[in-house]
Amino acid sequence: MNSSTSVDIHQGRGRVGCNDLHSETVAGDHRELLETTKSLFAALLYWDSTVARPHIQSAPERELLCIFGTGDLGRSLGQRLLQTGYRVVYGSRRPHSCDPLPQGAQVMSHTEAAQLATVVIACVHREHYDFLEAAAPQLKGKVLVDVSNNSEKGLYPESNAEYLQSLLPEASVVKAFNTISAWSLQNGSSDAHRQVYLCGDSAEAKQAVRELATSLGLSVLDRGCLSAAREVEDFPLQLFPQWRLPLCLATGLTAFFFFYLLTRDVIYAYVEKDKDISFRIMVSLANKVFPIVSLIMLSLCYLPGVLAAFIQLYRGTKYRRFPDWLDRWMLCRKQLGLLALGLAFLHVLYTLLIPIRYYVRYKIAENVVSVIRENRTTVFDTTIAWRSDSYLSMGILGFALFVLLGITSLPSISNALSWREFSFVQSKLGHLTLFFCTLHTYLYGWDRFLRPSTYKWWTPPGYMLCLVVPSVVLVLKLLILLPCMDRSLGRIRQGWERRGPEGEGTKPLMA
Ligand SMILES: Cc1cc2nc3c(=O)[nH]c(=O)nc-3n(C[C@H](O)[C@H](O)[C@H](O)COP(=O)(O)OP(=O)(O)OC[C@H]3O[C@@H](n4cnc5c(N)ncnc54)[C@H](O)[C@@H]3O)c2cc1C
Ligand SMILES: NC(=O)c1ccc[n+]([C@@H]2O[C@H](COP(=O)([O-])OP(=O)(O)OC[C@H]3O[C@@H](n4cnc5c(N)ncnc54)[C@H](OP(=O)(O)O)[C@@H]3O)[C@@H](O)[C@H]2O)c1
Ligand code: HEM
Repeated sequence: MNSSTSVDIHQGRGRVGCNDLHSETVAGDHRELLETTKSLFAALLYWDSTVARPHIQSAPERELLCIFGTGDLGRSLGQRLLQTGYRVVYGSRRPHSCDPLPQGAQVMSHTEAAQLATVVIACVHREHYDFLEAAAPQLKGKVLVDVSNNSEKGLYPESNAEYLQSLLPEASVVKAFNTISAWSLQNGSSDAHRQVYLCGDSAEAKQAVRELATSLGLSVLDRGCLSAAREVEDFPLQLFPQWRLPLCLATGLTAFFFFYLLTRDVIYAYVEKDKDISFRIMVSLANKVFPIVSLIMLSLCYLPGVLAAFIQLYRGTKYRRFPDWLDRWMLCRKQLGLLALGLAFLHVLYTLLIPIRYYVRYKIAENVVSVIRENRTTVFDTTIAWRSDSYLSMGILGFALFVLLGITSLPSISNALSWREFSFVQSKLGHLTLFFCTLHTYLYGWDRFLRPSTYKWWTPPGYMLCLVVPSVVLVLKLLILLPCMDRSLGRIRQGWERRGPEGEGTKPLMA
């Protein structure tokens, strides 16, 4: 229905209603016409108010909600509900002496407040739930929202929501809002703070809370029955869950390589040559540890992909679950990659300051002076020039692609890419990044792999150790790219199975 038609109908209605309907002087045969017009008009009115313009129906009475507790969350939630158009009544232990409440809210005792509303939100800590038993008669048949969180996991045998339900079996308890903070409610919630998880045993009660949350501009995800409350209550206690494994790995590798290189470089020089080069810890050692760990972590992003490919080739199907460890590994590749990128950044920053280091400037000056003093001539070595230019160039190319991977992992960018584009950058260019960075390190090592003096105390330098995993990943990836392997894997990933669904014999892979 467009607006101009609706205006016409209104104008018509005004004319008929005002002038003609109650006229005492209308002739008899006009009376019939009038009756017809009247019923037509009534039908029009009904159609207009219910079908064409439901929004101009008389506004329903604003729903009254009850909040138990006038603390941080109670106040913030009450304020947002009032702004959204709800009426709010607080139930408090001290209705006459609580601090100023959001304008427009009423406050009374718990039992009085519960009596007035059908939805009651308990903004009280679990430790105080026993007071609710006194309000059990008023809460009977009502929707009772549990918003509570605990300070740590596994504090109680059952979830707070299930405990509340056991105290008040005749109320319909719904777990909700526990992932929303009072602060974000007050300050206008950003995306990260908008997700409300719902769970409860009554579908109607959940629907009422869903509508409430949606009207506050929050997005709602139904997690099922009340037994899911324990999981929902654990959400706010999680601290960067997907970052834990990558962070532990980065810390462990950094600690290992730091002590390994400290022993090889600093302690070795002190013990064998009686030289104190401990100052090297701050820049030289750091500029070895960070790129080494970065390269290993980068290769660990791509190792699960090749392992998964070999598992699929071996099983002849993609429909069997990967082992749990591989699943978990695959899920934290983004975090592994971003940490690797952070460490590569540090390497580049440390590299940039090499020319301004006191030690480097001193060494260059000393070398120049000794060349002049001894009247020596130095020959330009093209091989060294090739080597250093090549490894620097590979490092720069690798780093540029590394940054590209980081940029495409930003949600705003990845959302603008199709799955194919994202997969092209992350998978294809990702392997190219690994290739450049590995080559950078091989070229940096150059012929030192063969020199016995490189192996102090029979230990290889850090960059040789860190080349093991990337080299394995690249070799395995090359194997997968062989036409026969690639074709077989392609078919498996398109749904082909070596054994039919009912296990009816083995099909040839290369058919
Ligand atoms: C800086 C940086 C940022 C990163 N950001 C992200 C990120 O935001 N998100 C992310 O996931 N990773 C990220 N990573 C990790 C890594 O780049 C990706 O996980 C990358 O996709 C891994 O590629 P892959 O080829 O090893 O494995 P995958 O891309 O998982 O796949 C291997 C092959 O299997 C195919 N395949 C995968 N799943 C299926 C399937 N179900 N059915 C059929 N075929 C399938 C793919 O097409 C591909 O050919 C990042 C890494 C770095 C260094
Ligand atoms: N704050 C947040 O950002 C947030 C976020 C998500 C979930 N939560 C959860 O929301 C609940 C309330 O948190 P909050 O931060 O608002 O806590 P709070 O500021 O400490 O307020 C709790 C309120 O509970 C009432 N209360 C205290 N002792 C009581 C008792 N013995 N008996 C009855 N009522 C009592 C008080 O209100 P009266 O004085 O009016 O009675 C008090 O103001 C908690 O379960 C918390 O886990 C909080
Ligand atoms: C702008 C890009 C880069 C530049 C200019 C650069 C430069 C350098 C330089 C100068 C060295 C020698 C450091 C020294 O002598 O102590 C070096 C070493 C190394 N680089 Fe890079 N690099 C870059 C990017 C990368 C990237 C992206 C990686 C991989 C993550 C990487 C991995 C390494 C490794 C493993 C070493 C050997 C460390 C050692 O044991 O000495 N580099 N790089």
